[in-house]
Amino acid sequence: MTPGPIREVEIFSLGHEGDGETAEGLYVPYTVPGDRVRAEFDGIRGRVIEIVAPGPARVQAPCRHFGSCGGCAVQHLSADAYAAWKVDQVRQALSQRNILEFEMKPLVSVAPRSRRRATLSAKQTRDAIVLGFQERGSTFIVDIAECHVIDRRLEELVPKLREALAGELPRSGQCEIGLTVTDTGIDMTLGLPGVAIDGPRRTRLAKLATQLHLARLTVNDDMVAQTHVPALKWADAYVSPPPGAFLQAVPSAEQAMQTLVVEGVGNSRKVADLFAGCGTFTFPLAKSAAVSAFEADIDAVSALKDAAKHAHGLKLITVERRDLFRRPLLNVELEAFDAIVLDPPRAGAKAQCEQLAQAKVKRVVMVSCSPATFARDARTLIDGGYKLHSVTPIDQFLWATQVELVARFER
Ligand SMILES: C[S@@+](CC[C@H](N)C(=O)[O-])C[C@H]1O[C@@H](n2cnc3c(N)ncnc32)[C@H](O)[C@@H]1O
Repeated sequence: MTPGPIREVEIFSLGHEGDGETAEGLYVPYTVPGDRVRAEFDGIRGRVIEIVAPGPARVQAPCRHFGSCGGCAVQHLSADAYAAWKVDQVRQALSQRNILEFEMKPLVSVAPRSRRRATLSAKQTRDAIVLGFQERGSTFIVDIAECHVIDRRLEELVPKLREALAGELPRSGQCEIGLTVTDTGIDMTLGLPGVAIDGPRRTRLAKLATQLHLARLTVNDDMVAQTHVPALKWADAYVSPPPGAFLQAVPSAEQAMQTLVVEGVGNSRKVADLFAGCGTFTFPLAKSAAVSAFEADIDAVSALKDAAKHAHGLKLITVERRDLFRRPLLNVELEAFDAIVLDPPRAGAKAQCEQLAQAKVKRVVMVSCSPATFARDARTLIDGGYKLHSVTPIDQFLWATQVELVARFER
């Protein structure tokens, strides 16, 4: 490749992807505001050759893989600058929709090594198994020896997996390993493309699950071993999430969100929990209100129903499978509730918020992992007469670019 022009530049701010940005709009990954760097440019993107003078917000990244592993974008930023950058992403998304009047609560932080879920990539090379996270913007796997984001139980499992999976991965292609720490042990999913889970292989994989003390092992959507039913406790309910189900990534962030959601609905007696998943908010809400949960995923719906059937001491819970993009709750249906909780996927809840904007429900609490689609939907609610009361940013995705939030609306 022909080398691009080399320039010395000063970094002015940090963009959405965590890349340093100069005043003239050039981007240089792995830099921080105030850095003076020499970088080689390919168009507007540069690659650092030398840090000429570090900026005041630069710190030593804790992980040896930072810069090659695609999991983290900003480990090299001081705690204050990092928190300000995360909060600013929410503020900017809202200001682009001209939403300026609301209370921005302080960022809720999570500790390193607290993420209970991880999706790893694995590949059989000629000599060994490479196991880790993909490089940024590429499918190359960084063979990790440490990770400062995931729960230690997952970190400790990585070298054991490398050993245990010897001979089980296909000779070509990449495999995906999903890991979730539950209250009864680690739930693992394994995707082995093109591999049939026949008798001998099934027996070997089942042994592997026992050897690694996994609660459950599911291979190519087929459960091959379960020593304990994976379970999580929310309020007074035990939920058994289906393999690969959506769950909040960090328990402390989940707790903070549950508290904010419950506080947000106040003394409401009838609440709808939209995009309910396996019931992360349904059960805490049901301690004081009758809850109607709506969710599209059939397995999540049955996990939620099952847990609701066996829970004690909670108000009435009803569960309906419903595609809320195609069939949002209509404004007349919404008005049967005192409060609506929504936690849509990244795409947001456009159709649902259009209905909500016409309804006379007093309180709305929205949880979102995408400030951009949240801002779009918040605009719809505000135009429909709601007031955005407060937004609490939650740093559920430590050192990554994403930010979660919980927002309260009232009319
Ligand atoms: C961000 S998750 C939140 C789940 C749950 N509230 C929680 O905190 O664990 C979004 C949920 O929306 C569900 N979902 C995605 N598209 C949907 C749709 N069109 N209609 C209803 N639910 C949908 C997903 O299956 C997922 O459970």
